[in-house]
Amino acid sequence: MAPTSALYGSSPDVSRRILDDIEHQFSLDKDDLIRITSQFLEDFKLGLSEYNHPMAMIPTFVTGVPDGTETGTFLALDLGGTNLRVCEVELLGNQEFVLRQQKYKVSEALKTGEATTLFDYLADSVDAFLTEFASAVPASPTAEQANPFASPSLNDLPDPTVPLGLTFSFPVEQTALNRGKVLTWTKGFAAKNAIGNDVVQLLQDAFDRKHLHVRCVALVNDTVGALLSRAYTSGGCVLGSIFGTGTNGAFVERVENIRKLGDSPARQKGGYMVVNTEWGAFNNTRTVLPTTPYDNKVDRESINPRLQAFEKFISGMYLGEITRNVLLSLIDAAPKPLLFNGRSSKQLNTHYGLDTAVMSEVEEAWEVGRTPIVPINHDTPKEKAAPNGVVVDTASDVPNWQSAHFTDVDALSSEDIARLERIRSVIIQRLDIDAENVSLRDAAIVRWASSLVANRAAKLSGCAVAAVLVQTERAKLGGGFATDEPRISIGVDGSLIQHYPNFNARLRESLRELVGLEVEKKVDIGLAKDGSGVGAALCALQATKQGH
Ligand code: BGC
Repeated sequence: MAPTSALYGSSPDVSRRILDDIEHQFSLDKDDLIRITSQFLEDFKLGLSEYNHPMAMIPTFVTGVPDGTETGTFLALDLGGTNLRVCEVELLGNQEFVLRQQKYKVSEALKTGEATTLFDYLADSVDAFLTEFASAVPASPTAEQANPFASPSLNDLPDPTVPLGLTFSFPVEQTALNRGKVLTWTKGFAAKNAIGNDVVQLLQDAFDRKHLHVRCVALVNDTVGALLSRAYTSGGCVLGSIFGTGTNGAFVERVENIRKLGDSPARQKGGYMVVNTEWGAFNNTRTVLPTTPYDNKVDRESINPRLQAFEKFISGMYLGEITRNVLLSLIDAAPKPLLFNGRSSKQLNTHYGLDTAVMSEVEEAWEVGRTPIVPINHDTPKEKAAPNGVVVDTASDVPNWQSAHFTDVDALSSEDIARLERIRSVIIQRLDIDAENVSLRDAAIVRWASSLVANRAAKLSGCAVAAVLVQTERAKLGGGFATDEPRISIGVDGSLIQHYPNFNARLRESLRELVGLEVEKKVDIGLAKDGSGVGAALCALQATKQGH
């Protein structure tokens, strides 16, 4: 039976004030959201006109999106954060694909050691994959088409070289489809002697050292991969975005707006180009981001202080750590503890000891059966069933969840008490807090803290999406204008948007506040399944066509 202690000796007023104050720090009203989105738009413009801005707005040299008719078989290598994946992707040309993949772990030592060791490991993984799994590579594209993704004749590829597309999900200043210098590491990577070097060359050198007949022909960010793969499977896409370990977005921009390309041939050619925003670095100066002491602690103790500010408010790598800081402050609250009888655990005292997945479990325990799962919007073209495209949702109804902390556990219904009991078990098991120190009220507070942090992340994510819709003239900030297009397709990937309860609904709510209901209803947020693999394959196809 859970202990029922309520306020641990603090007067209710004091406890309430402390919790109210935290809640206030994490709240964002409409004016805040508008201010943040306006700053986003300014930073987009700056990054498009000059190099060396934190919001890097990287031209990708991908000059169109696929239409689903592309064919061919390619290797893809995906280095993104949590895992390294090698895939063989067969594009079938009917908006479908077959993908076979193998995941490999990237150890902390590899992430922070010498870059050549990391790239040798990538080459070894490709070698292992080719030996064990791959079947039909090299590529065998067929029909010729009129878009940049049209299948090439591969006669000029030095046979039997296998063309490979690299998805490299870190900031890289691209100078061509197959060239780009590493700008900085993110997400806990810090391999030495990579910054400033061409990532394709680093990989190709590793292949050559191992005498592998593999040629890296294209370099792509995971957001670009999400955009391309969603376009391939669902017929068009304006934004590819990732809400996972890290966060970022890539969208299709008019080349004339990419002023920093000067009078280069790419700019003279005009048309459209995919731009990788690197929005994780938005507002590194934190002039508009709603920074709390809990965020400052995360940043100060991170591997990259003062960088990737936006990402540190949004992404799966950091949300658990922010929440851990909030919980520790309640354990240590004065004059009396407000959580767990003032006791912590080894787990909770460890840097990054609270995984965002635990927040997700806590919120799920609370939400299941309480808020309706946001349904799929049937007004937009139906997506194909798995494996190619699964709609995350396109709903217009956003549930109204309760985000306030609880002051009176005794007044809750028996269903809610059962939910709190489930959360209590998660806390005991996953945070290793002694059962005798976890009351139902503690469970409620952990749920409350998780939802504050996640809700803020989702709302800020909505600002990023809204900024792209305004930048591409599909919406006006504040609402009042909607494009004629019946559907605005956005491809997404990442653990938060896929698995965190209500992240998507909360993002949509923010979007609705920013651009109005008319636009929000048209937004079709769809999962870019296997975006990194399929996107890299599509880029490899475009590159081989260009003779790389
Ligand atoms: C990287 C981006 C990447 C994003 C999502 C960020 O940390 O800078 O390049 O797209 O994570 O993986």
